[in-house]
Amino acid sequence: MGKIILTGDRPTGKLHLGHFVGSLRRRVELQNSGEFEKIFIMIADAQALTDNADNPEKVRQNIVEVALDYLSAGLDPERSTLFIQSQVPELCELAFYYMNLVTVQRLQRNPTVKAEIQMRGFAENAVEGDTQQRQGIPVGFFTYPISQAADITAFKATTVPAGEDQEPMIEQTREIVHKFNSVYGPTLVEPEILLPGNAACMRLPGTDGKAKMSKSLGNCIYLSDTADEVKKKVMGMYTDPDHLRVEDPGKVEGNTVFTYLDAFCRDEHFAKYLPDYASLDELKAHYRRGGLGDVKVKRLLIAVLNETLDPIRERRRYFEQHIEDVYEFLRRGSECARAAAAETLADVRRSMRIDYFDDAALIAEQAARYRNE
Ligand code: TRP
Repeated sequence: MGKIILTGDRPTGKLHLGHFVGSLRRRVELQNSGEFEKIFIMIADAQALTDNADNPEKVRQNIVEVALDYLSAGLDPERSTLFIQSQVPELCELAFYYMNLVTVQRLQRNPTVKAEIQMRGFAENAVEGDTQQRQGIPVGFFTYPISQAADITAFKATTVPAGEDQEPMIEQTREIVHKFNSVYGPTLVEPEILLPGNAACMRLPGTDGKAKMSKSLGNCIYLSDTADEVKKKVMGMYTDPDHLRVEDPGKVEGNTVFTYLDAFCRDEHFAKYLPDYASLDELKAHYRRGGLGDVKVKRLLIAVLNETLDPIRERRRYFEQHIEDVYEFLRRGSECARAAAAETLADVRRSMRIDYFDDAALIAEQAARYRNE
């Protein structure tokens, strides 16, 4: 059987370089490799609403932002099905049946859910009618790992390119698949996560050196940033606080500029921008010895980032002038996704024996029983 990809993002903001090296760049490569039978890329608006119930406008506005980021990065609607989660209602029905196969206790142990409960400030001990300050955990939010299992299995996905924060979700999906297949017979496909190739891509830090790029920390470089914005952000980037004078030996580990180079720089960039060095290893060695200033390294990073982002900017300029087409791609993609999900849903209903009207044998059997045959 052919390999199938399903992955996606919540439309809560523009995508940044963390998204790019964590998954988006890989999706484009996989798309162009021709290795996959089908590729589904989902804008997870329904999931975004699980903790933004009071802010549907934010989700609505960001759908086109994320779609522009996808298209600009090189996802091609001719080769990948780009769609909007809420426009595929089959996903809700699948999630509803999977809910019977997962315990509250298992959801409570999901590390991503746990971390997000902390981050969102939901109070685990809130009581009914509690004040705004102690808001409880929305049921839809609590159960979103189950909805994510529906997203993945609806398309019989074998492969989910995503960051390591999604690992507990894939694990939970595999458990649901296992349980479903053992209770109702082989029906669903067990997916595998495809993680980024190196540590820098796995968790690209913010420009301030903090663990993660995050809009609320204001430490992101966006795919839609101009060359000037990128330059300013890189120039202000966190490096090694003990590397005060050029002659001082510097540290490469935990030095954000080098982490970004790990994620973006290739040997051929040196020939082009810094021919005194053959590779990133040589540059690092010099920095460690001392005698290499931050500005020189930052200039290289600016050149590399802008070289990466230039074709993305160019495609964005085109699609920004063709927004009606962007919505049309999403509409067609959603229809196509819906047809695929409906097939899986039919399999699921058959396996669960809730396909009453499609089951002639059932009707004949019941008729015979009541005629006392
Ligand atoms: N949880 C993902 C995020 O926060 C979005 C998402 C929803 C997803 N369903 C998915 C990712 C299925 C991979 C597979 O961005």
